[in-house]
Amino acid sequence: MEEKAKLVVTVTECKLISETVKYFQFELIDGSLPEFSPGSHVTVSMQNGELQRSYSLLSAPTNTRFYAIAVHLNETSKGGSHYMHNNVKVGDTLDISEPENYFPLVENSTKKHILIAGGIGITPFLSYLHTLQKGAFDFELHYCFRQPNTAGFISELKEQLGDKLFLYNGAQQQRINIAELMSTIPADSHCYVCGPDSLIDEVIERGKKSFDDEYIHFEKFTESIQTGHAFDVHCKRSNITLRVEEDMSILQALEADARINIECLCRNGVCGTCETTILEGEAEHHDLYLSEEEQQEQSTMMVCVSRARSARLVLDL
Ligand code: FES
Repeated sequence: MEEKAKLVVTVTECKLISETVKYFQFELIDGSLPEFSPGSHVTVSMQNGELQRSYSLLSAPTNTRFYAIAVHLNETSKGGSHYMHNNVKVGDTLDISEPENYFPLVENSTKKHILIAGGIGITPFLSYLHTLQKGAFDFELHYCFRQPNTAGFISELKEQLGDKLFLYNGAQQQRINIAELMSTIPADSHCYVCGPDSLIDEVIERGKKSFDDEYIHFEKFTESIQTGHAFDVHCKRSNITLRVEEDMSILQALEADARINIECLCRNGVCGTCETTILEGEAEHHDLYLSEEEQQEQSTMMVCVSRARSARLVLDL
């Protein structure tokens, strides 16, 4: 599998911007960082690469001096957010991937752009705004959060966006009405959503009724685990057989076993990095990367989300 290019960066700024959101700035020790497209993310390697997490870039896409990310502390997690909040400090060196983008802004569209963010799902839109505010774009940002003291960027957004910004403060029982919002915008508007699965699912569900798929764009931060019947996966090259239980993914089974290292970025069936050749058996595809025809061919599958239809799969791993 093709290795992604790595950048070795220094942490040059690190500060809490709300009770649970920390802002980080990274610079190259020497030289300029690559430009990126709005909506890109980088994957940060932690604990000698054992832990990898992707974070949206919120700095300006043309800023090659530094990259900025913001990390929401998930209290129940002992993973990436815990590490970033408690271990990473100014002066540290980190390995990050080059920027990649699975959530691009449709920059060549003259139609309206509706951005819907839930909590830390605001971050990819912060890089969109650098572009949207410069061009003649018609757009609105709808930002929902549980409470202002744990959300980030509210005052900056108010200042920058004026009446293009709509805030929904959960602590004041302000809830976004997705059905109402989507029924009032033209069906050729581009609708982007990032945040909790429930918000994304609602936008997708509602969008299906009046929008073509190409107008609905989403990015999930959490791993989607598709449940189903348990099955065995035989990794032929490594001669290892693993059991994938009802509530785990093939990727999780591989990671728990730890003998096979498989590269994965999105963990949501979007990016294609975990694409694996099927040698025997039939996959139940849940990804958004392969076309319908490719899924029917049954020659490859995304092991982060797809499961087995047969009792056993043999994979080229
Ligand atoms: S990790 Fe992105 S498709 Fe599996």
